[in-house]
Amino acid sequence: MQSTLNPQGPHARIVANISWVMFSGATVIFLLVMALALYAIYRRPDKRRTPSPTVLIAAGGVALPIVSLSALLGYGLYAMAALRQPAAESAHIEIVGNRWWWDVRYRDTDGTLIATANEIRIPAGKSVTLRLSSKDVIHSFWVPNLAGKMDLIPGRTNHIVLQADRPGVFRGQCAEFCGAQHARMAFHVIAEPQPAYDAWLAHQRTAAQQPRDALALRGRTAFAAHCLACHTVRGIGTAHVPGPDLTHIASRTALGAGTLDNNQENLLAFIAHSQSIKPGSGMPSFAHLEQDTLQAIAAYLGELR
Ligand code: CUA
Repeated sequence: MQSTLNPQGPHARIVANISWVMFSGATVIFLLVMALALYAIYRRPDKRRTPSPTVLIAAGGVALPIVSLSALLGYGLYAMAALRQPAAESAHIEIVGNRWWWDVRYRDTDGTLIATANEIRIPAGKSVTLRLSSKDVIHSFWVPNLAGKMDLIPGRTNHIVLQADRPGVFRGQCAEFCGAQHARMAFHVIAEPQPAYDAWLAHQRTAAQQPRDALALRGRTAFAAHCLACHTVRGIGTAHVPGPDLTHIASRTALGAGTLDNNQENLLAFIAHSQSIKPGSGMPSFAHLEQDTLQAIAAYLGELR
């Protein structure tokens, strides 16, 4: 469940604790105010004790807010300091926000860049620092179960630290309105045991798989003709206008930044009708292509594990 109150890592736990403390503080104040209101309404006027307005304002309007808000602020600052601690040693993962998808890049120790999109793999049980920036407008990175929110701002780099206690899939969502398809700007964080993560990363380094049959081969040719301008497939070509890297698209769980499940049917639908599925996105609909060409492209992409 995508919820701040269901923390699955130490950073999310800090955020959940802050939420509960703030909620408890607000509840105490609410009950106090309600008690005073009930007292004013139901206590017989001749029995009512009315403090002087000056005392009431000084105590309830000045002293109480200063004490309670300062206490909550102090606690918040203290608790949040731990959220800023960068991970001791971790993968270099860069996230670039785009309208409306997430460019995810892993920088290898030798400097090579491995690009994927809308899916972030991390080793479970390890603290990971993500570098966040934006290509166009302000987006906000939010995986409620693993961390707080952090904005992706054009022209600057922010950081967020997160950790998943155990392996699992955690849904994330852009949390800053960024245009028509803001709601379809989701992603998944997949936490895996270290060996599985290492194997995944090693596989991501490899170039795209060769087509296995005639249909996929046709698909690769059609892909090179129609799609390479925007989508890099390592081993085939590099995009000029970078859209999501599709080198290993079949290994990902979703299409269109969490819009559709990743399967053959949806791949074909997304290629042919992206502008009805995700209107305004950078990807044009390719409904003018012949059905068997679309099928071939979908079959080719379906093999790119
Ligand atoms: Cu990106 Cu909302």
